[in-house]
Amino acid sequence: MAGKESEKAGEIFEAIVKDLASDGRGIVKHPHGRTYFVPGVWLNEKVVVKIKGIKGKTGFAECTEILLASPSRINAKCQHHGVSLGKCGACPWQFIDYTAQLDAKQKRVEKVFSRLNLQDKVKTIAGSSNIFSYRNRAQFKTDGIHIGYVSSQSNTLVPIQHCEVLSDYNKHTLQELIEQLPNKNWQPRGKQPWITLDIDHDVSAQNISVNKRLPFKQANDGQNQYMRNWLANKLSVLDKGCHVLELFCGSGNFTEVISEQNFECIYAADAAGQAIESLFLRELRGVRTMTADLFKESEFAKILNKAKQSEVLVLDPPRDGLKVKGDIFAKKSKLKHIFYISCDLATLSRDIEAFVSHRYKVLEIQPLDQFPHTPHIECLVHLRKKDNH
Ligand SMILES: C[S@@+](CC[C@H](N)C(=O)[O-])C[C@H]1O[C@@H](n2cnc3c(N)ncnc32)[C@H](O)[C@@H]1O
Repeated sequence: MAGKESEKAGEIFEAIVKDLASDGRGIVKHPHGRTYFVPGVWLNEKVVVKIKGIKGKTGFAECTEILLASPSRINAKCQHHGVSLGKCGACPWQFIDYTAQLDAKQKRVEKVFSRLNLQDKVKTIAGSSNIFSYRNRAQFKTDGIHIGYVSSQSNTLVPIQHCEVLSDYNKHTLQELIEQLPNKNWQPRGKQPWITLDIDHDVSAQNISVNKRLPFKQANDGQNQYMRNWLANKLSVLDKGCHVLELFCGSGNFTEVISEQNFECIYAADAAGQAIESLFLRELRGVRTMTADLFKESEFAKILNKAKQSEVLVLDPPRDGLKVKGDIFAKKSKLKHIFYISCDLATLSRDIEAFVSHRYKVLEIQPLDQFPHTPHIECLVHLRKKDNH
């Protein structure tokens, strides 16, 4: 039993990596039973680890020796990759070949949905055709002297000269930003040890966004196209004489796909006023835009009421998922088809369980890899309301 014979920081023990946590770290067990999280190790590896700390029933350790290495280990391409202090933690799986990364993601999705007995609905994960140079957006940190990312194990700025996952356009912007160092305008004020610099393909090194998030945009163009095609294919076979409700529409990435299908009316809602404004200005066919905080019961209720004739729901929420569900399962609801695009497995499975318990059937779960070398997983789910007889 964990805790009875207590371990101490600095203690060393041998273990086999039994699983991977949602943040990508390996999971090992101490002989006394306590679970430890260890970065930089892979499934089935035999490792020596050193305890760094304990919090309640879990512990944290670092790998000091690999006794039996995974055959999937490779040399990371990036000079900044690593788990020790001073190394960048943004691509924690770069030391593992891409096939094994995809296999681990597939198994995680299947495991999560096996709890709902839905593992048979999980399709083969769609891998990214570009595993480097894929990121069309990024956020750097700078103290005016260095520019970089934050180390995985601490709150320290890791200066970088190069980032392999950035698109060629963004790599160029990074070089231009480095050339602007040292930069007095980027010195942090107050307690924060750095300021943020947001880049994407709409900005250059001369007009980057300082301390202000750029509007949301899917970060991997190729994989975004896959999601758009998936949705277009699913919608193409539905009857078009009905209304569609789209929640968390942003500036209209999927709204455009829905509009192209010629549905009678599309209600598109998001909290970001700037995103809704730019969607409105696009004048997409049949689209009615609405600004609403969908995590507030009252605002969510108003949107549901406006779009009460909708038979199709498309949603792409942030990590919190469909936190507020309001009257979405009410008897009077006409929603027949749900297309749920998710960036968080935990909240997705919570929400899918709720839909299933309200007579929705899961037809398909399509996992997708938007972020190679990270444990992040995107899922596209199609549900349909069961007939009433
Ligand atoms: C994963 S993004 C999806 C955006 C869009 N579907 C796309 O593909 O570009 C999540 C969206 O949820 C919106 N959002 C976050 N919190 C929200 C809230 N409380 N209420 C409404 N929208 C919210 C964000 O503004 C963002 O546009």
